[in-house]
Amino acid sequence: MTVLDYEFLRKLLKERSGLDLSADKQYLVESRLVPLARKAGLSGIPELVQKLVKGGAEPLTTEVVEAMTTNETFFFRDKIPFDHLRDTILPLLMQSRAGRKTVRIWSAASSTGQEPYSIAMLLKEKAAALAGWRFEIVATDLSQEVLEKSKAGIYSQFEVQRGLPIQLLVKYFAQVGELWQINSELRGMVQHKQLNLLQDFSHLGKFDVIFCRNVLIYFDQDTKLGIFERMAKIIEPDGMMMLGAAESVVGITDAFRPVPDTRGLYQVNPVRGGARAPLKAVAVC
Ligand SMILES: C[S@@+](CC[C@H](N)C(=O)[O-])C[C@H]1O[C@@H](n2cnc3c(N)ncnc32)[C@H](O)[C@@H]1O
Repeated sequence: MTVLDYEFLRKLLKERSGLDLSADKQYLVESRLVPLARKAGLSGIPELVQKLVKGGAEPLTTEVVEAMTTNETFFFRDKIPFDHLRDTILPLLMQSRAGRKTVRIWSAASSTGQEPYSIAMLLKEKAAALAGWRFEIVATDLSQEVLEKSKAGIYSQFEVQRGLPIQLLVKYFAQVGELWQINSELRGMVQHKQLNLLQDFSHLGKFDVIFCRNVLIYFDQDTKLGIFERMAKIIEPDGMMMLGAAESVVGITDAFRPVPDTRGLYQVNPVRGGARAPLKAVAVC
């Protein structure tokens, strides 16, 4: 791969997915795109780039973008965000939404579904306390391929062994040959939509909770800023946002501010979003 090939791919990936590849990631590009080029009957990356430069190769461009995204995920990833949801966010929402009894949760960059289904299982486990409430979970991702897997809700033995407590596996999954499928009730709790975070997402409507985890880490500061600003517009003034362990709003935007003593949890900044007191954890619902 020539320097120019690499620069072309960097620019393409930045424009299409926000992926901000540093100048020294040729090995990553080669490990992911050489197999893709061969599968497409091409000799290697230079020929792949020639085809992309010529234009009119949209499915191939999408394949290149998707091959370069990282889809790593697992059930109840990092545990703490789900503890926050159960112990802090839900009890607060049950007070503040007691009138309308509806809560909308967005799993932005939901990959193969382990995150939104972890949220769905957590809500099912609280079914008695949440009787009469309606929860909408919207799962979005750039990649149609991961969304299809998420919709099917079918996971390998390896995948269900990552983060999923055995009692939840037994309760909510059925064995299909060597695979496991999450039950239709939980699948029905999650709406899937293809969505690129670089593009407008105001049509999704307002959310009470946003999980945006382990995707912004791949973007540059300006891209993160743009996404945070647009998220601030579609989150309720008392809504909460969860970021990944290596992600933060600090130094990027003041539209959100960290909730004290709760790693990864952010609330709308009252100066910009409507006055409210700092969050305090309340009794578990
Ligand atoms: C590492 S996974 C994170 C999955 C899950 N949120 C978690 O924390 O386990 C990152 C996901 O972000 C998606 N992604 C990458 N760029 C995106 C973009 N511009 N818009 C929407 N999704 C994107 C990828 O397709 C991938 O599924």
